[in-house]
Amino acid sequence: MADVSTELAGIRFKSPTILASGILGTSKKVLERVCSKGAGGITTKSITIEPRKGHNSPIVVDFGGGMLNAVGYANPGIEKALEEFDGWEMENPLIFSITAKDCGEYEKIAGMISKIKVSAVEIALSCPHTPGYGLLAGQGDPASTFEITKSVKKKINVPLIVKLSPSVPAIGEVAKSAEKGGADAVNMGNTAGPGMVIDLERKRPFLDFKFGGMSGPAVLPLAVRCVYDVYKAVKIPVIGTGGVTYGKDALQMIMAGASAVGIGTAVYYRGIESFSLIEKEMKEWMESNGYKKIKELVGVAHE
Ligand SMILES: Cc1cc2nc3c(=O)[nH]c(=O)nc-3n(C[C@H](O)[C@H](O)[C@H](O)COP(=O)(O)O)c2cc1C
Repeated sequence: MADVSTELAGIRFKSPTILASGILGTSKKVLERVCSKGAGGITTKSITIEPRKGHNSPIVVDFGGGMLNAVGYANPGIEKALEEFDGWEMENPLIFSITAKDCGEYEKIAGMISKIKVSAVEIALSCPHTPGYGLLAGQGDPASTFEITKSVKKKINVPLIVKLSPSVPAIGEVAKSAEKGGADAVNMGNTAGPGMVIDLERKRPFLDFKFGGMSGPAVLPLAVRCVYDVYKAVKIPVIGTGGVTYGKDALQMIMAGASAVGIGTAVYYRGIESFSLIEKEMKEWMESNGYKKIKELVGVAHE
């Protein structure tokens, strides 16, 4: 059997499939179930200092090639999230995702995470549809990425993953800033866009917030190109996220330079079995093409 276990920033993953942030929320029980169904690791919904209600419904729409969402960081806030995830006992790594409005808030929330045991902290600098956060707060450029990464890094004692946007120019420069700021890995990346879907019946944008982030199969080529650029730009490992639905998609990410893959919208299409199905499809391809370890394939598209 081909070996698809992987390692990034010193963290071991039995499977390279990691549940992406925001897909299955903040319930420990649900995320444990995802692990028992084959995910190599899981990422929590991005947590803010204060609880957030998020945007009004409708917040998600299927546009045919994927999903458009404007959830608006609905989450229970850091105090409740820390209570929920205290005592994580699964061997699958728990990646704790946070987001904030500015450096000061990032430092504050990052400093609180040490109360519980997590494998890594991920910072989302890349949401395209929440005023005050991510791209709408200017966090996607190289200077802000450097400052925020540096601020968070000094507050935590586990590896730091910086989640970038596929919708900013010169993504390699942004990744370099994250690396320079002390990131141990980059997650490339968040939803693309923002995009818009018009509801023909109402003759209005479908989402209440009007625009949202695009995910799913339609964004795969964009995400693969970004992973390719980032792999070329930095030495730290990359998690490839965006449009991975089948094993062959995950293999494209790996060949572009990813050491692991984030799985998000695939869960809406293929269910919670997505992780084990994608892993199985990767193994089948590797076996029929004579590869024993996933490591042999990381970044081969660059050779
Ligand atoms: C409904 C929904 C909610 C999301 N919430 C978050 C979030 O809270 N934090 C974050 O970093 N990314 C969030 N994302 C982005 C995903 O983690 C992922 O980066 C993106 O969907 C691309 O991957 P995919 O095509 O596999 O879904 C969300 C995506 C969706 C569809």
